[in-house]
Amino acid sequence: MRWLDERTGIFHLADEALNEPIPGGARWSYVFGSGLLYILLSQIVTGVFLAMYYVASADHAHTTIEYITKVVTAGSFLRSLHSYGSSAMVVTLLVHMGQTYFFGSYKGRREILWLSGLGLFGLVILMAFTGYLLPWDQKAYFATAVGTNIAGEVPLVGNWIKELLRGGTEMGTLTLSRFFVAHVFLIPSCIFLFVGLHVYLFRKAGSAGPVSEHPIMPQQKAEQFYPKQVLMDIAFATVLIGTLGLLAYLYPVGLGPKANPADTSFLPRPEWYYLPMFQWLKYWSGAYSVIGIVVIPGIIALILVVLPFLDRRLERRPWKRPVASFSFAIVFCALLFLGWQSNYQDTNDPSVAKQITKQDSLANAFMTSPFVPEVVGGSTANAAAALSPAAKAGKGVFLDNSCDQCHGENGEGTDKAPALLGAADKLGPDTLVDRLLHPTKKASDAGMDPVDVSDSEFHELVAFLQSLKK
Ligand code: HEC
Repeated sequence: MRWLDERTGIFHLADEALNEPIPGGARWSYVFGSGLLYILLSQIVTGVFLAMYYVASADHAHTTIEYITKVVTAGSFLRSLHSYGSSAMVVTLLVHMGQTYFFGSYKGRREILWLSGLGLFGLVILMAFTGYLLPWDQKAYFATAVGTNIAGEVPLVGNWIKELLRGGTEMGTLTLSRFFVAHVFLIPSCIFLFVGLHVYLFRKAGSAGPVSEHPIMPQQKAEQFYPKQVLMDIAFATVLIGTLGLLAYLYPVGLGPKANPADTSFLPRPEWYYLPMFQWLKYWSGAYSVIGIVVIPGIIALILVVLPFLDRRLERRPWKRPVASFSFAIVFCALLFLGWQSNYQDTNDPSVAKQITKQDSLANAFMTSPFVPEVVGGSTANAAAALSPAAKAGKGVFLDNSCDQCHGENGEGTDKAPALLGAADKLGPDTLVDRLLHPTKKASDAGMDPVDVSDSEFHELVAFLQSLKK
């Protein structure tokens, strides 16, 4: 250990990390900051494993998530942990922020600390937004379509932002790869930077202690961070692990059918923490939407930013800060009300409720259906390369007898005759042979002659037809 310490200064580092004085002693109410750090860690670990299977393209993203959910060992558990983790992050963050605000812990030379916290809040919200699209199911697609449309409503730069987010006017693979890059590279890098800054500034300012404590020159007897507070933090992290694990195990997160941009009836609903915002925007339509989307949120954000610069009193007790406490209570109740109202409207409008029930049952049906792999190499060249020799020869017979004129070169069907993909499986070998030798009335009316070839050619033809899978 001494050898290591002489080269790295590890004892000093451990000392710095663990011997932080906490005025008034360790408390359960201080566990939320480190709880957030624990959830971040969990999100990174689960996210890395999810990324090992994920493909960020409109063609494959949904299949890869379906594969993770239905086939990969513990894949559904891992994905559910990541999903519940994002909700836990938002909840814990709101508690942490609310507490800092309500108990005046942002006071006394903690302006930049507060700002870095606001920055982290914004980054977490962006993580939730970008992550929501990645499964590329109906819900993901349409919620993000709404989200990017809202961005498009911002005056002057709105359209530019919208196209920047989407990578064009429509949503597709470019949108998905942009969101993926933001979700796994850009935003996380910023988060690491801000977390470093936040923890550093917190240590620099020192723990604020209980509300009765002076925020700059603490008076109360201090207790070291280690061991009591460390143990409390670990206990809280254990509760988080247990809760997230149980939720992920008992209520695995679902996946809906693949996004279908042509479906105009789908009613998108955001993740619960976006519901108040979603409901709020319903109040502002047409020319007024600027007020709801930009002006009022802008004012609230501005108030939060300038708060520690304006509120210079060192008083921290909530009951001595009626304006701050009241505005906190009002905003909190408004958010609860909006969330409740959104839910109320959805359940009480029969047509909306019916559509949402339908969407849910489609998603449930999709979840219980078995995983069907994508057929790799659907293109002509690859399909031919994958054929058995007999089937390959059979393709020659198929073409020589002009079957392709009605059924298409690869049996995909034309307007003259139906596709033959999957027909052999559907009919079974005996009926297939029978249909070739004795075409149905409809077929012969259309001009299909009974197949008249040598025995070996006939076998090859059947082998070819049997190779035509859906
Ligand atoms: C002139 C157009 C035409 C040509 C050429 C033709 N078919 Fe057909 N074929 C049809 C039509 C139309 C049907 C659909 C009959 C029905 O729905 O009952 C059909 C049905 C079939 C079916 C049954 C499919 C099913 O799902 O029941 C098979 C197998 C088939 N054709 C194979 C062939 C083969 C092999 C050749 C070449 C030797 C060929 N056809 C040439 C028009 C054609």
